[in-house]
Amino acid sequence: MTTLPPLSSLHALGPAQQPAYEDKERLADVVEKLRRLPPLVFAGECDDLRLKLAEAAAGRAFILQGGDCAETFDGVTAASIGGRLRVLLSMAVVLTYAAQVPVVKIGRMAGQFAKPRSSMTETRDGLTLPAYRGDAVNGLEFTLQARQPDPDRLLRVYNASAATLNLVRAFTKGGFADLRSMHSWNNDFVRQAGVSVRYEQLTAEIDRALAFMMACGVGDQSFKTVDFYASHEALLLDYEHALTRIDSRTDTPYNVGGHLLWIGDRTRQLSGAHVALLRQLRNPIGLKVGPSADPGEVVDLVEALDPTREPGRLTIIARMGAKQVRAKLPAIIESVESSGRQVCWVCDPMHGNTFATSTGYKTRSFTDVTAEVAGFFDVHANLGTWPAGIHVELTGDDVTECVGGVGELREEDLASRYETACDPRLNRAQSLELAFMVADRLSTLERPAIGSYDVVDF
Ligand code: PEP
Ligand code: CO
Repeated sequence: MTTLPPLSSLHALGPAQQPAYEDKERLADVVEKLRRLPPLVFAGECDDLRLKLAEAAAGRAFILQGGDCAETFDGVTAASIGGRLRVLLSMAVVLTYAAQVPVVKIGRMAGQFAKPRSSMTETRDGLTLPAYRGDAVNGLEFTLQARQPDPDRLLRVYNASAATLNLVRAFTKGGFADLRSMHSWNNDFVRQAGVSVRYEQLTAEIDRALAFMMACGVGDQSFKTVDFYASHEALLLDYEHALTRIDSRTDTPYNVGGHLLWIGDRTRQLSGAHVALLRQLRNPIGLKVGPSADPGEVVDLVEALDPTREPGRLTIIARMGAKQVRAKLPAIIESVESSGRQVCWVCDPMHGNTFATSTGYKTRSFTDVTAEVAGFFDVHANLGTWPAGIHVELTGDDVTECVGGVGELREEDLASRYETACDPRLNRAQSLELAFMVADRLSTLERPAIGSYDVVDF
């Protein structure tokens, strides 16, 4: 049996990025309450996801992971959740059909409420307050009261995650995800050249393919529902520890607050508390690595997190930036691959490409995003390894947060709909455009013959 380190031992390691709660008693009460609440996900679902990720690690599937940078409590609405799901499912269909690979669909959703920050404080017009650390910790409003860390927010995270996951399950199993209705997902798209036209052509082709299959008598359930998984950064140790339970079937710890949890680039210290907790979990684990990571360090982390070399156990999410991906990523891939492991290599083309405009908006350029993805595919092509997925920050709304892309958004346009609580996200058109770009790259790669996919049901 694996034992779980006690919460106090994790805090004794001086973990990075934890809120400075004033009311410790209230925090302890909240943690006790959380420990008694029912699981949000089941151990068996986490195991299913691990099997699918093993397919991606072996070059037989592709991972699409995406959602908000920071979910908010106000964003727990049917429209907002449905919108994110719709864009993710649309992207997944583009990838599945255009590239003919099964897609593992994972939301940055139903738990992505806490943010690591580079700076402890934020100053506006001479006033300095604690930085916003996500709705899990404090409020975005720039007042002293809102910015105080409040332990009760952890209970709200649990409830918001439960409500989100409940709707996601209803949407994905209750008919919304039926492939036969996929043209209606985006029929409110503003008519513009490029991505919407391409999307319409693709849906028409899929309709014909489905009609053909139905006529042949293939009326499979897999057209009607999809498996969709929840993931978030495991940042707040109090919350993550309270949501970790010993599975009675296997006598091993699972975090039941999400299917896949990842360790952020700022909290991946080898002897740190986040690694100490996540290495004990049976959930599939993600590890973010940025340009400051050296290959030896990553190998040590991989050994700590995947000691039994289990395919699908570990997903390495590289976020190098468009300028550094070609220089930094190859050595990391080579070191990990030479240890004989099968990990999933995923590209996060968002976090290494953030900059501020002269008017003070934090943004990303769609050109940099696609350049990093192209660099990621090129690096894998050179090394003969499989580019197993992408990890993106997106929303279903037509926001103006990242410049460029099909609508040719300019810096001057950002003010019109800039709504993110944290990092700038791709809007729906930009997300679909990225999916087509990735599908084009994927479709040129050698894939296993049709018929070798029936082991795992996607
Ligand atoms: C994030 O994914 O929102 C994030 C903070 O990423 P990273 O840990 O890679 O900086
Ligand atoms: Co972010």
